[in-house]
Amino acid sequence: MGPALGEAAKKLRYLRNFAAGRLVHVNMQLLYDCNLRCSICEFWKPEYRGRPRLEVEQVRVLSDKLATIGPQVVSIGGGEPLLHPDLIGVVQSLAQDHFPVMICNGWLVNPDNARALFRAGIHEISVSVDYVDPKKHDAQRGVQGAHARAMRALRILQESRSYSWQRVHMISVIMDDNIDDVEQLIRMCREIDVTYLVTLYSDNRGRIERRTIPNDVSEHLLALKKRYPEFVVLRGYIGRFSDAILQDGIGPCYAGRNLCNIDSQGDVSLCIDRLEDKVGNILHDPMDEIERRLLGKYLSNRCRACWTSCRGAIETLMHGDDRLGNLLDYHRMTRPVPVGPHAARS
Ligand SMILES: C[S@@+](CC[C@H](N)C(=O)[O-])C[C@H]1O[C@@H](n2cnc3c(N)ncnc32)[C@H](O)[C@@H]1O
Repeated sequence: MGPALGEAAKKLRYLRNFAAGRLVHVNMQLLYDCNLRCSICEFWKPEYRGRPRLEVEQVRVLSDKLATIGPQVVSIGGGEPLLHPDLIGVVQSLAQDHFPVMICNGWLVNPDNARALFRAGIHEISVSVDYVDPKKHDAQRGVQGAHARAMRALRILQESRSYSWQRVHMISVIMDDNIDDVEQLIRMCREIDVTYLVTLYSDNRGRIERRTIPNDVSEHLLALKKRYPEFVVLRGYIGRFSDAILQDGIGPCYAGRNLCNIDSQGDVSLCIDRLEDKVGNILHDPMDEIERRLLGKYLSNRCRACWTSCRGAIETLMHGDDRLGNLLDYHRMTRPVPVGPHAARS
């Protein structure tokens, strides 16, 4: 493959592909192993346990292949990405030609790996915290101490950034029983100087519980967004939570055209909720063939069953109303924040 794109060229090419409505966002399950036992997720269960993880050499291959169609925001998830023995190598490989970001549960974060991740070029790390009350969070996550470790991780990460463009967020899954927690969670973010994001619960992932979320949730979240600058979520994204609840999701879905999913074996699908519906394998199949099949799937896809941030954020920016307002929110979500004294450079 050719040399890595320079940073400016990378951004320019990303913007061009964004404007042209092409594929710009990849969600990736780096591995399925997890140290927690969340009631809202299936990936720690026997049917996923033991599936191979993506090794660094494979991440290099997929990174090079993706680079042929243009830089992607690659969202590293899992499972728990910090269980990967060479997560730093993974981030380094991706950062050459793409914009790596990551969601983690925070348990395994320490000052050494936090600094190494930022030095490797990660753009954004989000830590999942769903409740104010540690007992509720720990019960949902299935392991005692999960809340304390997540809060500790947020503090460490915020202090370990190398560059001002690297951001740390807390992220909550909005469910039926934590809507009243959101304001206090934002205040907790304010105290430790990180920003706050949300995603909407999806019950399309295997055999997890259906939840009845109040349908005035958009109004509530938009009011909080007005009051708290730390709540950097896109207004257009949370503005459609109520529709998603009333209509059982949001359509049309742009998965396959603007975003896709790659799992821990390199299998490519439209999204994390439809892992078995594969269009090919990025490690073995030519990229143009994968892109062509993804577009074909997109054109025939009638699914509109979710409104999680894996698709909602990018779709809001690309196709939502109030482009200007959402771009302003995107700017707040990604704008540089000064780094601490240890930083490589700011
Ligand atoms: C699957 S997890 C993987 C990363 C990491 N283990 C963590 O817990 O953050 C990625 C994100 O999806 C969220 N999530 C898990 N189950 C979900 C569901 N059923 N609906 C929406 N989001 C979900 C998690 O809370 C987390 O923010």
